[in-house]
Amino acid sequence: TECDIGFVGLGVMGKNLVLNLADNGYTVAAFDLDNEKIKTTIIQEKYESKQDKVRVVGCASYAELLTSLKSPHLIVLSVPAGYPVDQVCECLINGGIEPCDIVIDTGNSLWTDTVEREKKYKDNFILFSSAVSGGEVGARFGPSLMPSGSEYAWTRIKPIWEAISAKVDPETGKPINRNHPGEIVNYGEPCTTYIGPAGAGHFVKMVHNGIEYADMQIICEAYQALRDGLQLSADEIANIFEQWNKGPLESYLMEISVDVLRHKLTVNGKLTSVVDLIIDKAGQKGTGLWTAISSLELGTPAPTIAQAVYARSMSAMKSVRVKASSLLTGPDVNELTEQEKAVFIENLHDAVYCSKICAYAQGFQLMKDAQKEQGWQLNFSSIAKIWRAGCIIRAVFLQSITQAFEREPTLESLLVDPYFVEQLNKHQLNWRSAIASISLLGIPVGALSSSLAYFDSMRSNVLPANLLQGQRDYFGAHTFERVDQVQGKKYHIEWATAKKEMKEL
Ligand code: 6PG
Repeated sequence: TECDIGFVGLGVMGKNLVLNLADNGYTVAAFDLDNEKIKTTIIQEKYESKQDKVRVVGCASYAELLTSLKSPHLIVLSVPAGYPVDQVCECLINGGIEPCDIVIDTGNSLWTDTVEREKKYKDNFILFSSAVSGGEVGARFGPSLMPSGSEYAWTRIKPIWEAISAKVDPETGKPINRNHPGEIVNYGEPCTTYIGPAGAGHFVKMVHNGIEYADMQIICEAYQALRDGLQLSADEIANIFEQWNKGPLESYLMEISVDVLRHKLTVNGKLTSVVDLIIDKAGQKGTGLWTAISSLELGTPAPTIAQAVYARSMSAMKSVRVKASSLLTGPDVNELTEQEKAVFIENLHDAVYCSKICAYAQGFQLMKDAQKEQGWQLNFSSIAKIWRAGCIIRAVFLQSITQAFEREPTLESLLVDPYFVEQLNKHQLNWRSAIASISLLGIPVGALSSSLAYFDSMRSNVLPANLLQGQRDYFGAHTFERVDQVQGKKYHIEWATAKKEMKEL
């Protein structure tokens, strides 16, 4: 029998996507260089589906994979970003892939690589891209999918993607859970939408990850403020986060932070919080870095996202930090009263909330500026919608962003949307108080404070760049414009002369 979909790469994400496809009634021809992974996937599918019908078949080669499929062939790749994608594409060409066949790259490829690849392989097959977010569980029970590329390919992929993606209850904006193998959800709004031409989907996924970095760092800074500022235990912090998770901060990342903080292990006969056993050195695979690089290249400020990347790099400098910690002094700290502690926690909540708004504002601004440069037509409310479930940054908060872009599809910034204006104005004083007291405790909160600087810069009618332009003109004759003259007219002062004459250029 001919299968509906070919699948290459049966790592954790790949295997779970295959099982998800099978749950939804698709037959899959699966290939991996590691034969064991093929066997495991087939066994797991048989065991989990409890059906007689075989939905996953293993293939021994790329050529066999292609002959096992209905024509035109649809092949999904779940391989690491970078060179492996090209390696597989070459193997498919050698295996006999045809120009009308579709290959979907689901990895976290660099979006510019995707643009290049689409061109490179256009005579061999149609390269489509669709990044996947949601980790292992998302892949298995419904991820958020960000497809882009050929619109023809999308017409073929759409029903499959809508079936396997996460679903949202349109009324509440909350995820509809599907937790058991074999179970499917065929109602609600699917977390997938056509993003745009080649590269657009990978750009949007990259920004998703940049926001993910910022979201995680913001939560981690709140954790450090509570751990080191208020000397709270992991359990006590979990209690606070659990409360926060009932309000506007309700999110997957907050929820998993509570689980991480609560988990305990017995070490040397003593029950220990696992978080206290983990070394404070963060890893990263590059998508946050790419987002920060894009923001610098586009000239779109994304300080909270960039700061989140720096914070990971700072954490990795463990040995020099340990050395410096014995040399550099911090402030003397007085123990806070119970009343002061309660105020601190409340202010910290608002700092987290406002910083989160700024991080998302930066991410959406980045997509807006990229679309201008690339000539894409991104639909920001649809993007916010498909992030409400399935993906790592899923949160009730994304319903408010969806609504903001529904009100005003060409919204200049989230920071000028009436709802967010009201929220920020209401909480800004607490945000400031939190950062003031945290800085007096000597605790670094780069993401929280760079968000505040972003907010204060946005609300600055006049920034100090007038002096900066003066400095540039002084040493490099870089010229400046005047507030009292027509925009675009350039002026220069002969700074080195006694008369310091101003010239119009
Ligand atoms: C997701 C995740 C996923 C992955 C990233 C983050 O959306 O499901 O973002 O793509 O976890 O690669 O990885 P790092 O933290 O290692 O950069």
